[in-house]
Amino acid sequence: MSIETSGTPAVVPSTACPPIIGDAAPNFRARTTMGARTLAAYRGRWLVFFSHPADFTPVCTSEFVAFARAHEAFQALDCDLLALSVDSLTSHLAWQHSIEQRFGVRVPFPIVEDPAMGIARAYGMLPAEATSSATVRTTFVIDPEGIVRALIAYPLTVGRSVAEILRLVKALQASDAADISTPEGWQPGEPVLANPPLTSDEVGACGADWYYRLEGA
Ligand code: BEZ
Repeated sequence: MSIETSGTPAVVPSTACPPIIGDAAPNFRARTTMGARTLAAYRGRWLVFFSHPADFTPVCTSEFVAFARAHEAFQALDCDLLALSVDSLTSHLAWQHSIEQRFGVRVPFPIVEDPAMGIARAYGMLPAEATSSATVRTTFVIDPEGIVRALIAYPLTVGRSVAEILRLVKALQASDAADISTPEGWQPGEPVLANPPLTSDEVGACGADWYYRLEGA
C-alpha cells in the first residue's frame, strides 16, 4: 500500500486494516517540515513514527520537547524520529518555531502534514468514534526492514513517556542481537531471559528453571 498526501488524494483501500506487530508498515509520501519524505526512505534504519492530536496543545508540546531532547539518544541507536498530525505544514512550522522560542529546544526531526488523514487512517491513528480529526497518540516502532515491531496508543489526555519509547527500541535491538527476551523494566546491561525451550527434551535439559532462566545475572 502506498499513500500520497499531496496532489492526488490519498489512495487507501477502505478495507485496509491498520498494521499490527509483524506487518509491513504502509508506505507513504508526504510533505514534512524538512521537505518531502517517504516511509520507504527509512529502510536500513530504525524509526519511531508517532502521531499527535494537534499542534499548539499542551500535552503534545511536552512530548515534542522530550522527543527533541532525546533525539541524539535515538540517533545513537540508528533510530530516526518522524512525527505526524493532521495539521497543515504551515501550522507545524509555526508550532516548532514557537517551541524553540518558548523552550529553547529545536525540533530536529520532520513533522508530516496529513490534512486528508490518509496516513492517519492507514495507520489506525484516528479514534474509532472519531468526532474530530485529532489523532490519538500512536507510536509505531518500525525496524530497518520496514516491519512494525511495536505499537503503543495513548489517549488525548495522557502524555507518553519518551524514556520508555527509548527503552523499547533498546530492548528490541537487544532481543534481535541475541536469542533472548528482556524482562519487565529491563535496562541495557541488566540480566536478560533465555527464550523458553520448545521441546520436552530441551525442557529436561534445562532443569527446574526451564521457563525462567536469567542470563548475565
Ligand atoms: C494536548 O496535547 O494537550 C491535547 C490535545 C488534544 C486534546 C487534549 C489535549
